Amino acid sequence: MLKRILKITALVLVLLLILAGAGIYYVGVHHREIWFNWVYRNPGGFNKEPNSLLVQTVSNVSPGKALDIAMGEGRNAVWLATKGWDVTGFDVSNEGLRQAEEKAAKAGVAIHAINAKSEDFDYGSEWWDLIVLSYAFTPIPDTDYVERLRNSLKPGGLLVYEHYQQMAIDIVPGAMHAGEAPKIFSNFKILKFEEPVTGGDWANRITFPLVRLVATR
Ligand SMILES: C[S@@+](CC[C@H](N)C(=O)[O-])C[C@H]1O[C@@H](n2cnc3c(N)ncnc32)[C@H](O)[C@@H]1O
Repeated sequence: MLKRILKITALVLVLLLILAGAGIYYVGVHHREIWFNWVYRNPGGFNKEPNSLLVQTVSNVSPGKALDIAMGEGRNAVWLATKGWDVTGFDVSNEGLRQAEEKAAKAGVAIHAINAKSEDFDYGSEWWDLIVLSYAFTPIPDTDYVERLRNSLKPGGLLVYEHYQQMAIDIVPGAMHAGEAPKIFSNFKILKFEEPVTGGDWANRITFPLVRLVATR
């Protein structure tokens, strides 16, 4: 009898765990703004410093118009603005946008912070000197989307991309599998492409394969 009760209890616990996991996954995928609002309101999340690939890439580039896609709490957008860039950043997380504006005000710079989805944003045509995709949740690897990005970049403009590599099943939005980036970005001229296994920018710096890409139109 006791064995049976234990078995049923274990089964119920496993079912509850599966349900909780599915719930978290559902919220994560379908309501990312809820998840990221929570992330940005709590300690952890992303490194507060700007992305190092971005810093290396643009340090000697004359500032112009920059777009930070899914900019989160603005660590990259605000850094760019302090370097003289005219920065537009968008995201679905209101808390991220609020913190980005607060950070910009503290740094004494202005940024254009917009609540928008990467799928719907009007990227324009030849508008940007720089596009930043730093762990950005986007429709990449959709090549039509990548073509929209290319169209929106001025000739000679730069695109800087860093993200974790895609998992065995495609659960990381905006991520690419190992070796895929040159094909997906084949409509760009690729200036740098590497896939180091290192700590990414998520605050706990888990060691994981990354994709780093710098490209121009
Ligand atoms: C992994 S964080 C990266 C934040 C920032 N780019 C950085 O490097 O610190 C991903 C961001 O994408 C945003 N996001 C999720 N889905 C989005 C979507 N469909 N459109 C725009 N932003 C989205 C989240 O709110 C979050 O701020």
